[in-house]
Amino acid sequence: MLKKILITGGAGFIGSHVVRLFLKKYPNYFIHNLDALTYAGNLENLSDVESLPNYQFVKGDITDEQFVNDLFAQESYDAVIHLAAESHVDRSIKDPLAFVRTNVLGTGVLLNAARRFWKGSAGKLFYHVSTDEVYGSLGENGLFTEETPYDPRSPYSASKAASDHLVMAYHHTYDLPVVISNCSNNYGSYHFPEKLIPLMINNIIHNRSLPVYGQGENIRDWLWVEDHARAIDVIFHTGKVGETYNVGGFNEWRNIDLVHLLCRIMDLKLGKPEGTSAKLISFVTDRAGHDLRYAIDATKLQKELGWAPSLQFEEGLEKTVQWYLDHPDWVRHVTSGEYLSYYQEQYERR
Ligand code: NAD
Ligand code: DAU
Repeated sequence: MLKKILITGGAGFIGSHVVRLFLKKYPNYFIHNLDALTYAGNLENLSDVESLPNYQFVKGDITDEQFVNDLFAQESYDAVIHLAAESHVDRSIKDPLAFVRTNVLGTGVLLNAARRFWKGSAGKLFYHVSTDEVYGSLGENGLFTEETPYDPRSPYSASKAASDHLVMAYHHTYDLPVVISNCSNNYGSYHFPEKLIPLMINNIIHNRSLPVYGQGENIRDWLWVEDHARAIDVIFHTGKVGETYNVGGFNEWRNIDLVHLLCRIMDLKLGKPEGTSAKLISFVTDRAGHDLRYAIDATKLQKELGWAPSLQFEEGLEKTVQWYLDHPDWVRHVTSGEYLSYYQEQYERR
């Protein structure tokens, strides 16, 4: 069946994996990738698929109502898979309104266009890709389920919670067919080096210190980005309208243990004596309001839609490290410019 799908944020980390998967797996779908190409968006992420005949890049800002409405008026989209967002918690602490603008207003603009242009049409779907951070912070025990009440604690997670609520409000109020997934921490290729795993890999390569916030006791549940893209594919095609699905790796790591594991992998890859990279670890001022632990219960997705993570963490991490070692040009391009001043401000004063 022919489908025309608007994927937002397709030039980012997860979005580029989703665009690639859909282009390759569904050659009869037309994929429009709408992205503003902020510091986090990079068309190099899609250089291997950009010449496919079913792909088109559209540069634009989701907060620009006129632009988004014109696009919906011009193209008859069957579905939206919405990933465009400001995604980094530390940046949300410095500039919360940028997150309100893109994540809340931008999602509202897209929802409004879908409501207006899809009115009365069957077979449409608005899929919002969201985060487990909307559920807040866990203590030592328990997992986030789809029934866990929202309790966001950073400007980033509050903006994603607000956008989730808007999506559901459009479903209940206007009957807009929607689905939401809330995923844990992703890792893999094309991950912007401001995030923990690629930051540590890049810093080890350049013999820079490894800034671990607080005592490194915080826990995250890590999922291979291609497994997340597979989950999005499954939910997009077989998820129930109006439902939310949690996506996670059943793979919890304390930050400090993860950084030590990365150091061991890097020592092996770089042919350095064991313990060399770990000497770079430096405990720095904690993130404000740092959520202690996230852990996802992805049973609903496993049981109802048959999805499961495919890759063991150690294997995925080894592949990820190798990808960064093989792509120094990509890392250099994305970390030049604006990122340099961000890095200095974020780390050199800590
Ligand atoms: P990212 O920061 O790597 O990419 C975001 C993309 O959105 C970039 O290409 C950027 O250019 C684009 N964008 C930003 N503002 C825009 C605007 N106003 N208009 C159009 N495009 C804009 O983010 P990511 O890590 O790939 O995350 C993608 C989505 O998945 C986000 O919604 C995020 O909240 C969610 N998510 C991320 C993770 C994770 O671990 N990274 C986990 C769960 C959910
Ligand atoms: O849980 C899903 C979320 O995961 C996504 O919604 C976000 O978009 C994504 O950025 C990610 O958020 P985190 O804040 O968990 O990811 P980050 O890589 O920034 O940090 C992971 C952990 O590592 C966190 O406990 C903070 C810590 N950290 C991070 C950085 C950048 C450090 O100790 N040092 C650092 O330099």
